[in-house]
Amino acid sequence: MEGESVRSRGHRVKRGGVVARSKSSGRWLREHFQDPYVQRAAKEGYRSRASYKLLEIQEKDRILHRGMRVLDLGAAPGGWTQVAAACLGPQGRIVAVDRLPMDPVASATVICGDINDPGVIAQCQETLGGGVDLILSDMAPNMSGIASVDQARAMALCELALDLAQDWLLPGGALLMKVFMGAGAEDLRRQIKNSFKKIVVRKPEASRARSTEQYWLAMEFKPDPLREEELDSSSAAD
Ligand SMILES: C[S@@+](CC[C@H](N)C(=O)[O-])C[C@H]1O[C@@H](n2cnc3c(N)ncnc32)[C@H](O)[C@@H]1O
Repeated sequence: MEGESVRSRGHRVKRGGVVARSKSSGRWLREHFQDPYVQRAAKEGYRSRASYKLLEIQEKDRILHRGMRVLDLGAAPGGWTQVAAACLGPQGRIVAVDRLPMDPVASATVICGDINDPGVIAQCQETLGGGVDLILSDMAPNMSGIASVDQARAMALCELALDLAQDWLLPGGALLMKVFMGAGAEDLRRQIKNSFKKIVVRKPEASRARSTEQYWLAMEFKPDPLREEELDSSSAAD
């Protein structure tokens, strides 16, 4: 069997220990470096092509304003954080969270950890110190290649972003999140509609047509009256 090839994570692995790049990973690399948004990001100093998705949404919907408080979930390598920091200016505040390490961005606090971890949630809360005006979530799970598993993981990240929005958004605040269309998306839309006055769907040009991702922008957050009562009683007790 020596020398026989097996597929492993996009590489052809020869059973003698010699690893050759598979055709598909070679194609991915070629496509990546020929991508006009990748080339533009390198020229314009953005850390990722994803920056252009947020720039296009900002151009249309004007969600980022000077002095805002923003939570950026799934922030690495920091393309969205760079865009947000430039729009918020020095008075703004951004907390950027990712389980992958990320280089600092001026005026942002970077937290490295999994947003499912209660310790990371507590760190965000402490750093934000009060409510936020906007939550961004570009989180995407590690893909297993099993569609149903990947979709369930992606939906769990959306639900977590929505939970955090329900806990931390200031009245009138907004949530922008990446949603992979598929099982669970309609239910998510119903949940969002309960907490926000308006929801619009965006598919920026930088989002690849073959990707099922969409960006959902939920606006004019309406806090649960029970949450407001709890907040009032805890601040009265301080
Ligand atoms: C598409 S990338 C984000 C790109 C980023 N918005 C930018 O502009 O550069 C998705 C990110 O979500 C992060 N992510 C996925 N699940 C996460 C989790 N549970 N907690 C924190 N980050 C997570 C991944 O590590 C990955 O860096």
